[in-house]
Amino acid sequence: MALIEWRKDFETGFPGIDFEHKTLVESINDLHSRIDQSGGDASGTIKRLSEIHVLVESHFALEERVMREEGFSRFKEHKADHSILLDELLDIMDTLSSGQNVDLDSTLGQRVRDWFTTHFSTFDRDFHAWEQRHKNNAKN
Ligand SMILES: [Fe+2]
Ligand SMILES: [Fe+2]
Repeated sequence: MALIEWRKDFETGFPGIDFEHKTLVESINDLHSRIDQSGGDASGTIKRLSEIHVLVESHFALEERVMREEGFSRFKEHKADHSILLDELLDIMDTLSSGQNVDLDSTLGQRVRDWFTTHFSTFDRDFHAWEQRHKNNAKN
């Protein structure tokens, strides 16, 4: 089963953004499917997790650049929520590096999935709605 199944409550209300998020989720699922679930290959798992971290981080960097350029007022809170997921991924990698076992399906599955469920439909929906209004105001 995929790590993160796309759900209706992930939707931001903006099809273009949802498409980008779906692509991100698919890439994460693809990397996750290549992780050795037996726990025997910690360094391989850390490598895949760091690739997931890079993907997520670059999505956030893009979003945050637009927020800064457009002067989004809730930038700080939004960025702080991005940091929660990035820290979460780093924590899991640290735990693995220290030689401890991690039940990836429940740990990663639950923590990462929960984050996506709320971030897309709250923070991203809020930002992209603001962005739309901001662009419309600029046109008038
Ligand atoms: Fe996003
Ligand atoms: Fe975001």
